[in-house]
Amino acid sequence: MARQKLSGTGMTYFIRRQLACPAPGAFDATPSWAGLQLREWVLPRVLELTHTGRRIAPYQGCRATVRSARRGWSGLPSCTVTEPPFLGSTRVFYDTVAADYAEHLRAELADRPMDRALLTVFAELVRAAGAGPVADLGCGPGAVTAQLHTLGLAVFGVDLSPQMVAQARQAHPGLRFDEGSMSALDLPDGALGGITAFYSIMHTPPELLPAVFAEFHRVLAPGGHVLLAFLVGDEQFHRTEAYGRAVSIDYFLRPAERVGDAVSRAGLVIHAQMLREPHGDAEKRPRAYLLARKPDETDQP
Ligand SMILES: C[S@@+](CC[C@H](N)C(=O)[O-])C[C@H]1O[C@@H](n2cnc3c(N)ncnc32)[C@H](O)[C@@H]1O
Repeated sequence: MARQKLSGTGMTYFIRRQLACPAPGAFDATPSWAGLQLREWVLPRVLELTHTGRRIAPYQGCRATVRSARRGWSGLPSCTVTEPPFLGSTRVFYDTVAADYAEHLRAELADRPMDRALLTVFAELVRAAGAGPVADLGCGPGAVTAQLHTLGLAVFGVDLSPQMVAQARQAHPGLRFDEGSMSALDLPDGALGGITAFYSIMHTPPELLPAVFAEFHRVLAPGGHVLLAFLVGDEQFHRTEAYGRAVSIDYFLRPAERVGDAVSRAGLVIHAQMLREPHGDAEKRPRAYLLARKPDETDQP
């Protein structure tokens, strides 16, 4: 499990930036920031540190300790953060199955006409808004990323699993794929004209989805679009076998309305939602598609 000790102004910077501090400057404007405000405001939101050891993001369920420096309030705190367990297990799972997944699902998008149709709609909207590049979050072996590239978008993929990123790079050598977590993107505010997240939110515990959508809102430019595709249900299950291998991974399926509520609460305006039934032998559960947009100056207050 990734661990990192940060201290001083670096931590202050990360906390402000990643947790979107509600009162900019408050942390260092008062002598109590190291003790009171970190404990009362930051810790309840919990910290995530990605395995690269560079990022902190708001996540419940992560252990964190904050100690004020020995010199008292004028000193700087230190913080030990531990990656939330579900990110580690998701990474290990997809690292384990990446080659099999890529092999079995290589042509899957060809069998998903609805996915392709909605990607075409999304591409048209993003082009019309002209708000910047697109990130395909949880890109896996990169089929959606490649489809968006074919549709004329400047797109790159991001995935938690290094092995999935390796598969994507091998399959699409001309495209960019980065390791990273959709909950803590290594991108400046407002950098993206669009985000796709296809079947990649289902391992995030539902109580943590608001933080993920807050991150989407942060990195989107005003007028930028998000297209989500996800399995629908109202259940949590644990899988111990995949492609003949022993694995350990949790799935969290939620009704489409509940996911939509979380998207809206993050400040994104829902443009379209669609449910479809499973088709073919491989699909067992219904799927939802949700298209949303970050408001810009053309939106009514
Ligand atoms: C079921 S696969 C879907 C891959 C691809 N989007 C597709 O439609 O074929 C889910 C992918 O999401 C990635 N993933 C899950 N949680 C993630 C997170 N928090 N940040 C980035 N990637 C994540 C996994 O590593 C995996 O590659």
